[in-house]
Amino acid sequence: MNTPYQHLITQINQWDYEYYVLDNPTMPDAEYDRIFRQLLDMEAEHPDWVTPASPSQRVGGKPIDEFRKVAHSVRMLSLANTFTLEETYSFFDKAAQELDTETDQLSVFSEPKLDGLAITIQYRHGLFSHAVTRGDGQTGEDVSHNIKTIKSVPLQLNTVNPPELLEVRGEVFMPKAAFAKLNEAAQQSGGKMFVNPRNAAAGTIRQMDPKVAAGRDLQFIPYGLGEYQGEREFLRHSEVLAYLHGLGFKQNPHCQLFLGSFAAFADNYGTMEQAREQMPMEIDGIVYKLDSLAQQNALGFIARSPKWAVARKFPAQQAVTQLLAVDFQVGRTGALTPVARLEPVFVSGVTVSNATLHNMDEIERLNLCIGDRIEIQRAGDVIPKVVRVVGQGECRQAITMPSQCPVCAAVVERVSGQAAFRCTGGLSCPAQAAERIRHYASRKYMNIVNLGTKLIEVLHSKGVLNTIADIYTLKASDIANLEGQGEKSAQNVLDSIAASKTTQLGVFLAALGIHEVGEEGAKNIARHLKNYPAVVNASYEQLLQIPDVGPVTAANMVAFFADAKNQTLVQRIIDAGVNWPDEADEPKQEQYLAGQTWVLTGTLSMPRAAIKALLEGLGAKVSGSVSKKTTCVLAGQDAGSKLAKAEELGVKVLDEAAFLAEFGDKLA
Ligand code: IVH
Repeated sequence: MNTPYQHLITQINQWDYEYYVLDNPTMPDAEYDRIFRQLLDMEAEHPDWVTPASPSQRVGGKPIDEFRKVAHSVRMLSLANTFTLEETYSFFDKAAQELDTETDQLSVFSEPKLDGLAITIQYRHGLFSHAVTRGDGQTGEDVSHNIKTIKSVPLQLNTVNPPELLEVRGEVFMPKAAFAKLNEAAQQSGGKMFVNPRNAAAGTIRQMDPKVAAGRDLQFIPYGLGEYQGEREFLRHSEVLAYLHGLGFKQNPHCQLFLGSFAAFADNYGTMEQAREQMPMEIDGIVYKLDSLAQQNALGFIARSPKWAVARKFPAQQAVTQLLAVDFQVGRTGALTPVARLEPVFVSGVTVSNATLHNMDEIERLNLCIGDRIEIQRAGDVIPKVVRVVGQGECRQAITMPSQCPVCAAVVERVSGQAAFRCTGGLSCPAQAAERIRHYASRKYMNIVNLGTKLIEVLHSKGVLNTIADIYTLKASDIANLEGQGEKSAQNVLDSIAASKTTQLGVFLAALGIHEVGEEGAKNIARHLKNYPAVVNASYEQLLQIPDVGPVTAANMVAFFADAKNQTLVQRIIDAGVNWPDEADEPKQEQYLAGQTWVLTGTLSMPRAAIKALLEGLGAKVSGSVSKKTTCVLAGQDAGSKLAKAEELGVKVLDEAAFLAEFGDKLA
């Protein structure tokens, strides 16, 4: 009989199956959560109803005290490794000989070799009983509390006729994305970082408290059976895997059944090596198994590995080499990144002589010094990284952040509260030029509509756009001759530069991209100091008096204007005609837009920030989205969904011409 309680369980288990096994979610999160709550409420009210198959039972109560030792009734074997096609082929030659057949007559099943840890899970009468690690192959440890948290492990097998006993063997692993997320979080919180997804999976399974595993995305994919007491007679390995999938387990992707011929092996290996990068999990080779269970039984095993299956491993992605030096690269935002220079070493098919080190905290975490022997890892196209120190060098030399930028010689400072160090050269550091120009010209700041990121990159690479001041000396010919540009588009760029020249002091200050001087801070500074000379001459103490200006912003402002190169640059911009009105003493206008909410949308010819400042000066709020409460929408060219929404809601809309007719006099 299906009670409402059982119905809830079946429903949630089905959704979990769709989400975690089939990777095909069908239920919105909110609805899932609502039903799950219903289940928990029902169980709280009727504790005697709770069944072990309930999804509420995945995370048990208390941490365990110790790992119970469990003997395997069927030994857990490991695999012999091969590294070349010839070795793999001769492995099956031997098997064929022993079976008195031809190698080409064998049916071979290939599966990716998942890089995690082997686990065996027992089901009694279709219910999860316990899960055990491989251990030494004879005896493992009971890790049921953690394996139960894995949502792709069914708590109840999906069959009306479950076997008395079923032992499912497979690999527990952490997908690449989950590993990256876990390490990122660990780095931020100063927690333990893992070397690779396999260590992360193993470390998680070794936890006493199941809450840890429940919070990490582990997965399980079966690759065979252990003990089986049931009615079915399996003839083939591929049949076993299909049966397990039917019971509710995930399937190993990219499996293939083929007759073992030399050419087939060769093709399969190359295909898998290519597919490897795109797979969501790490694999470290391919496992080739005889598909016939009769042949498997006839062959048996030798020492600890079967004579009917073999792994062909990918070349190692790790290698050991020496750290020769550390250089510092300056990125687009001025951040200095340490780069390891290595004694060249051959790893997964290429010679590697550089590796990334991320930041100084990473160097400290690794306890790394120049001269050390280190392990590096290279996976596919990813930049090689330093994994760990394997031996300390004889004369170890500490790695220190340079005090001056290696590109422009400006002072290097630590970004407060972060692991990053940054060059303070700002506008005059060539390494940062393109990013600075993009920030300056962006819609939020100077709003130079036709000077987009791509064009900035190209002009910068051609050497005609090195600083923000160079924007104002651009000639039509600099642009017209570029690929994909012409006379007309060049003129459009120059026109939008000209149109952007009138701005607000606060907007201009924010456009300069001084660190920690954002839109609001710059607006406050402008409002209080009123004109540019006062800004240039403001002392640290004076700046600190301004609301919302903290010590970091104040110090960065002073440092910026103390640098003669920056002052010269700004003067060039002013000389080119960029202008703004001095700020008024008190809000000169009456706040006659008080209580109103405005929305700006589409392409406007004036800097958005200037319009925003004007509207705010008149007392209006400027919001990013249109609702019934919006008073008016200012719609520039190519306005899209916000304009449509305003029209739908009957909100007043002004185009730019109408806006200027009403407010133009207040802008200048
Ligand atoms: S079959 C008797 N199939 O590789 C055969 N193993 O190096 C038992 N592994 O302990 C293993 N993916 O943890 C098999 N598709 C796969 C596998 C696989 C990963 C692991 C497993 C095993 C180790 C042997």
